Amino acid sequence: MFKFMSLKESIVKEQIPQHIAIIMDGNGRWAKKRGNQRIFGHRNGVNAVRAVTEAAGELGVKYLTLYAFSTENWNRPRPEIEALMSLLVSTINSETDTLLKNGVCLRTIGDTESLPPSVAAKLKEATAKTSGCNGLNLILALNYSSRWEITNAMTRIAKSVLDGQISPANITSETISSHLCTGGIPDPELIIRTSGEYRLSNFLLWQAAYSEFYFTDVLWPDFDKEELYRAIVDFQKRERRFGKISEQL
Ligand code: FPP
Repeated sequence: MFKFMSLKESIVKEQIPQHIAIIMDGNGRWAKKRGNQRIFGHRNGVNAVRAVTEAAGELGVKYLTLYAFSTENWNRPRPEIEALMSLLVSTINSETDTLLKNGVCLRTIGDTESLPPSVAAKLKEATAKTSGCNGLNLILALNYSSRWEITNAMTRIAKSVLDGQISPANITSETISSHLCTGGIPDPELIIRTSGEYRLSNFLLWQAAYSEFYFTDVLWPDFDKEELYRAIVDFQKRERRFGKISEQL
């Protein structure tokens, strides 16, 4: 009997991206379509976070970076910001044990020290608790923006030059990479954005130099394991040339 291959079965196990980054977009529209408040969309977005984390871990992805709160998100209405912060804390409270059980290491990138003190403390606690895990690294981009990150890296490099620790002639792209929040983490091979928007919105600008982009109209709360498989299958069909021509690969 002929059997159709499932999306998951069509994934080539030897070519799983080791780092996938996601711009989770469309929570507000998802809620509005249902006649609900925006925060209802964010709450349902947590289900998608859970599903994608599980799927990434099962597939053996090493790093999953999720854009959860940008430095520009402070411009949203105050009640939405407060609801997002409390959703973050309650999700960490309810999920940390599951992360530990599954060997998931929770990490953050961004200016987390400037988050409300209770949020910053909770993140510190959860990242310390899971720091010994050796499965998936779940990296939450919080109070993050790439221009902030690059500016911050430049300031620190400039200080090291003034202190005589680095000579300007020795500054390489590795010097810059290692001073970013993602220092030591490989660049994402695949960046996904949901909800039909086609922009990077200040996310991983330096790290995305050779990333493959996958855009889908699916709104974030509807993004599930199958959608992640679909993105990976699409990624695996691409030819990554890194500036070379096909015949050289
Ligand atoms: C974008 O949708 C989503 C956000 C700015 C927040 C993402 C937060 C979550 C998924 C929940 C909390 C996360 C964790 C990791 C526990 P939008 O509000 O911009 O949607 P819209 O474009 O339709 O208005």
